[in-house]
Amino acid sequence: MLIGAKKGSPLILGVGNNEYILASDAAAIVEHTTRAIYLADNEMVTIEPGGFHTKTIDNVTITKDLRQIEFSLEQIELGGFSHHMLKEIFEQPDALTTCMGGRIDRRKNSIKLGGIASHLRELTRTRQIIITACGTAFHAGLVAEFLFEQLARIPTETEYASEFRYRNPIIGDRTVVIAISQSGETADTLAAIEQAKERGAAVLGIVNVVGSSIARTTDAGIYLHVGPEIGVASTKAFTAQVAVLSMVAIELGRRRHIGSHEADRLIRELSATPDKIRRILEQSDHIREIAAANIDHDNWLFLGRGFNYPVALEGALKLKEISYIHAEGLPAAEMKHGPIALIADEMPAVFIATAGPQYDKIMGNIEEVRARGGKIIVVATEGDRNIRQYADHLITVPEAPEFFQPMLTVVPLQLLAYHAAVLRGHDVDKPRNLAKSVTVE
Ligand code: G6P
Repeated sequence: MLIGAKKGSPLILGVGNNEYILASDAAAIVEHTTRAIYLADNEMVTIEPGGFHTKTIDNVTITKDLRQIEFSLEQIELGGFSHHMLKEIFEQPDALTTCMGGRIDRRKNSIKLGGIASHLRELTRTRQIIITACGTAFHAGLVAEFLFEQLARIPTETEYASEFRYRNPIIGDRTVVIAISQSGETADTLAAIEQAKERGAAVLGIVNVVGSSIARTTDAGIYLHVGPEIGVASTKAFTAQVAVLSMVAIELGRRRHIGSHEADRLIRELSATPDKIRRILEQSDHIREIAAANIDHDNWLFLGRGFNYPVALEGALKLKEISYIHAEGLPAAEMKHGPIALIADEMPAVFIATAGPQYDKIMGNIEEVRARGGKIIVVATEGDRNIRQYADHLITVPEAPEFFQPMLTVVPLQLLAYHAAVLRGHDVDKPRNLAKSVTVE
């Protein structure tokens, strides 16, 4: 007899042919079966040779639905790539197409967000949005803060879930909380959701793993639908989170601020993102050379402004996670208040200097770093001739409205971190000390 009981961390029962498997994640069992039961807190399952039965922890028999796992073994195999992370980086154009496909109607130029349809009115009228998440999902939340404020003029705060849950947050009348999580199992994010619900907020989830704890705890939500993400360093989940949040922002914007004409234009622009990412991926070999030329430096800076400031944070996180190179992401103008003291001896500084309202400002920041001996790696817009004279290394991305640039500018930084880690000889998919889903505090 084998007994599994759930409290806090996830637990699923895989139901195969004459076999049962207990695991915390569907990816672990899909090789054996695609049918599973998701246990809730204070529930248990007793498995015996003749079958299994489910009960509450107080021994009351309960009936649980047998669910179909929504991905296949093929989706979690490498398919010719050397690592899951690289595969997932290259999957991004298709993943975004799927993520946006059923939601954007190109003929009508409209966005349909079925998962949150029941809460759209509330969201449109909200006085404040609080976004809560951890790690890479937090960076997607920071992009959304810009999106919601710029396109819909809704005051938005993005908070680390681990801070939010302990800060006695002020959740007023008509506050909507949005939790973002790839796995849907992150303990801090789950606790933040509980906290928000206790205080009466409506909580929406943006989650990848179907049926996960966060998907089940939130009042409504939107799935990313990008397939399983196996690499510990999150990549396609980030771009899809930003894509989903962009769709929400455009829809709210249409109802509140920007009007239909501008919303239509933005839908067209957003739909062009997957093809633009394809063009960036073609530069993978070039980006490997940039990584190789700078691999010996143990300290890097990532600098961006506006919409690309969260991308600078994400670029630094990626490099730290898998290459074990110390990196700091900063809003470029903050550099002069301290970090500029670090710059010497060709320290690599990665600037995101794409076309947009802050272009001239960031050029000034580049000059400040150059003058002090930093090595300048620039992510710029295709066709920007001016930038060449400032850059030691140049990576280009196709032109896009600043709102949607993060989905493009993050891609070269994912590749830079990937190649740096491989060149340094690290196991990219299993970085030391990290877990894919952090189900403990
Ligand atoms: C872990 C992972 C990160 C991820 C974070 C949040 O730290 O290593 O890649 O961004 O958890 O995970 P979530 O599943 O909630 O998005």
